[in-house]
Amino acid sequence: MNKPVLECTGIAAGYVKGLNILNGVDLVLNSGEIVSIIGPNGAGKSTLLKAIVGIIKINAGRFYLNGSDKTNTPTYKIIHEGLGYVPQVNNVFPSLSLQENLEMGNRKKMNKKNFDDVYELFPILKERNNEKAGNLSGGQRQMLALGRALISKPEILLLDEPSAGLSPSAVDEVFESIEEINTSGVSILIVEQNARRSLEISNRGYVLDQGRNAYSGLGKELLNDEKVIELYLGKM
Ligand SMILES: Nc1ncnc2c1ncn2[C@@H]1O[C@H](COP(=O)(O)OP(=O)(O)O)[C@@H](O)[C@H]1O
Ligand SMILES: [Mg+2]
Repeated sequence: MNKPVLECTGIAAGYVKGLNILNGVDLVLNSGEIVSIIGPNGAGKSTLLKAIVGIIKINAGRFYLNGSDKTNTPTYKIIHEGLGYVPQVNNVFPSLSLQENLEMGNRKKMNKKNFDDVYELFPILKERNNEKAGNLSGGQRQMLALGRALISKPEILLLDEPSAGLSPSAVDEVFESIEEINTSGVSILIVEQNARRSLEISNRGYVLDQGRNAYSGLGKELLNDEKVIELYLGKM
């Protein structure tokens, strides 16, 4: 613990030249942690993940992986360096089989052990291996998306809204899987609308609001902070 595996300092980024959505975001993910990013719709949570993985350009600030500067590194290289990313939308290929979807995620040479480890975590992916991903339920698709990110044995996983649109029981399963993945040694940065639930399984959390850091602290501290409850979590 307390060895930063991922660090953002003063990140500014956006989609249109000269118009930043993020205005100087700081964030640290330490080895072995689960860290949540919460905040209102449009706060820039997905944008931050996209800037980290090189989908959009970082205009100011730095991003470090294991202490080395990776600001504006192309996405394929970032993935190669051990970062797994599950986007908020379109995170599986519906017309491909489950097996083909998993193969798409493999950055290394085909390694049977990698597949077996994913099947152990998500048996459904083995049972329905030859079916098209489009036939899966929302929860099963999310498992496939997680499996695809895990197939290349990342050290760090970035998850964008993994529980969005799922039934309550599927939400439970996804959060349990995330904890299990973390226990196996993967550090996890997770963006969630389901903020309470996400903070409950997190070591620490950050609240982003309008492209800036608003609050940060231990997961439990944020869950009990009156201002955070009032502004971002709502009363139970
Ligand atoms: N592809 C895009 N092109 C232009 N603006 C975008 C794009 N995606 C998101 N935005 C804008 O960036 C802001 C932050 O969006 P986003 O990072 O998706 O928020 P969050 O994930 O916190 O809900 C919003 O104002 C949104 O409209
Ligand atoms: Mg988002």
